[in-house]
Amino acid sequence: MIKNFIYQNPTKLIFGKDQIKRLSKEVQNFGEKVLLVYGGGSIKKNGLYEQIKNELKDFQIFELGGVEPNPRVSTARKAIEIIKENNIDFILAVGGGSTIDCTKLISAGVFYEGDAWDIVIGKYSPKKALPFGVILTLAATGSEMNSGSVITNLDTGEKLGWGSPLVYPKFSILDPVYTFTVPRNQTVNGIVDMMSHLLEQYFNKEHNPLLDTFIEGAMKTIMKYAPLALENPNDYEARSVLMLSATIALNHSLDLGVIGDWGTHRIEHAVSAVYDIPHGEGLAIIMPNWINFVISKDTDRVKEFAVNIMGMDTQNKNDIDIAKEGALKLQEFWKNIGSPVKLSEVNIEEKTLGQIADLAAKQVVGNAYSLTRDEIYQILKMAY
Ligand code: NZQ
Ligand code: ZN
Repeated sequence: MIKNFIYQNPTKLIFGKDQIKRLSKEVQNFGEKVLLVYGGGSIKKNGLYEQIKNELKDFQIFELGGVEPNPRVSTARKAIEIIKENNIDFILAVGGGSTIDCTKLISAGVFYEGDAWDIVIGKYSPKKALPFGVILTLAATGSEMNSGSVITNLDTGEKLGWGSPLVYPKFSILDPVYTFTVPRNQTVNGIVDMMSHLLEQYFNKEHNPLLDTFIEGAMKTIMKYAPLALENPNDYEARSVLMLSATIALNHSLDLGVIGDWGTHRIEHAVSAVYDIPHGEGLAIIMPNWINFVISKDTDRVKEFAVNIMGMDTQNKNDIDIAKEGALKLQEFWKNIGSPVKLSEVNIEEKTLGQIADLAAKQVVGNAYSLTRDEIYQILKMAY
């Protein structure tokens, strides 16, 4: 049954070619001094950096580059100092999920006297945040239209998610052309991430029949267009479909009245906290094994996934076999586009699986199908 819910998403989405022309108009609503936050330099190579400087020539621009994939709390701390020293009014995040997530912590951390990590671990709940906008360059996380953020702390060896309604981007500019330069492996990681977000929400106990069909349709559409974008990285239509899919997959319009499971994400965050592998690679390895594991907990739902999304035929087969075939077909799809499918492929040592399970089990793993530490360990073993 669909649970009661309230949905409000305040991010203004600005989609399409050359929408950057609107940038200065959007930014001027927030002030004069802007901190530009970006990653390791892809925006300098593809010309976007110059374009932004040009569009914002009437503003005073400060910069913080070098946000890492799996962004560090230490980087957010640096940016918070720059903002406080210079009385900056607005932040512009240019990049993928890592840059956006880091910006969310910066935005909330500016108004807190203590250490930004307190916000991530929930020791301090933000009361105020500096406004920020986004120019998205990679279709993956959905961070451009949600209020979540995932931050790594190398001192404590943790990678944790946090969120606050205060850290929705004020606007997000999504020009699919900016994703033409995303390398093949990152394109694949993004595809896996958006598909995993859809599946995390599909696996729920409440069931919203309307959103089930939306998710089934979105999954099939992504599986149709992903190979086209990989074959021709400059295919505007394919890149558009992926960009919009990624945003809708995690702007919480697809889990209205239901509670998605998110167990795979919790396990993956523990894997990438210990090994610093890309989020999408971790998901491609864990999710099919997680699906196989939950067959014993909810055969009917996995069968629906197998039939309605993966297109398995049902004749002369029992439900468990159909469900297993669905999990395998998803794994094959990801393998065919270039994802790793085993933990051993990404240089993870078998003897550390227990440590990863311990770390994951520090939080609740699985809203629909709650997993014990030993069950998490079994899934990691299956994925090795
Ligand atoms: O750093 P630069 O030089 O920009 O290069 C990046 C980075 O190396 C590159 N890239 C991005 N756009 C590009 C490009 N290269 C060429 N051309 C472009 N147009 O891609 C690499 C990966 O970027 P990153 O931002 O790390 O990737 P992604 O968007 O997948 O973000 C991953 C992070 O988001 C978190 C993950 O855990 C991970 O830390 N997540 C955030 C979520 C959220 N906020 O809602 C939900 C997700 O489930 C996820 O956990
Ligand atoms: Zn994800």
